[in-house]
Amino acid sequence: MQIFIDSGNLEEIKEILDYGLLDGVTTNPSLIKKEVENLKNSAKTTLGSYIKQILKITKGKRVSLEVVGKNYNEMIKEGLALYKKFNPISKNIYIKIPIDPCLEDVCSTEADGIKAIKFLSSKKIPVNCTLIFTPEQAFLAAKAGAKIVSPFAGREDDYIREMASINFNKKDYFPKKGIKKLNKLLSDNGIVSGVDLITQCKTLFKIQKITCEILAASIRSPRQFREVALAGADIVTMPYDVIKSLLRHHKTSEGMRQFTHDLTPEYENLVKK
Ligand code: E4P
Repeated sequence: MQIFIDSGNLEEIKEILDYGLLDGVTTNPSLIKKEVENLKNSAKTTLGSYIKQILKITKGKRVSLEVVGKNYNEMIKEGLALYKKFNPISKNIYIKIPIDPCLEDVCSTEADGIKAIKFLSSKKIPVNCTLIFTPEQAFLAAKAGAKIVSPFAGREDDYIREMASINFNKKDYFPKKGIKKLNKLLSDNGIVSGVDLITQCKTLFKIQKITCEILAASIRSPRQFREVALAGADIVTMPYDVIKSLLRHHKTSEGMRQFTHDLTPEYENLVKK
């Protein structure tokens, strides 16, 4: 399973790259917005050159950049432009296309996400199809040629709680088997949790022999990381703080304190010389 960082921040990416375990980077317009705010204080760096720096330090690892268009023509124009501008630097750019660019639940355009995936894929531009919330969306994206589909586990958990008017904090653990309210298991049309969304996508792809990779996105905690890994995600993308917290355990640091306390000069000499 590959590990990506979900960030547009150069320093965060550098630090995690230094672990030697990073396979790629995902960004989205909200993450880029954060960096644009930071860049306002630096007169010399433009967003374009900042992204180029990210591509240089990641040295050919997969980096996803998202379009912002809301229809087919805009999305393919932006996809082609992003690819032309940035792929020569790292040779591993994935264009992120939303499965459905519509802003409302009822849409005036039809299947523009799918059509854009088909077009870009026909030009051999790898597509990461984003904002996936159902296995059927994942299936259609893969059939249209997406190389990666990104189901959003954390936001699925948010949605199930929002629909049931449950107050929550985004970092609150949401059980993979779902939660009950008034003795009824809550679900989003048969999906009981974000981890269940990844599991169902994985099962569907396996049964239908689909080779497209499943990237578990919107991961909020180490436990959710563990559960999507056990569900068979091919890639997991996580924010900087979640990646860092994967290493932590109270008993690990307690054990370190005890071993340090018990260290005898004889053993220290033996080890150090
Ligand atoms: C994935 O590519 C997305 O950028 C991301 O994982 C969204 O996560 P969030 O729901 O925590 O914003």
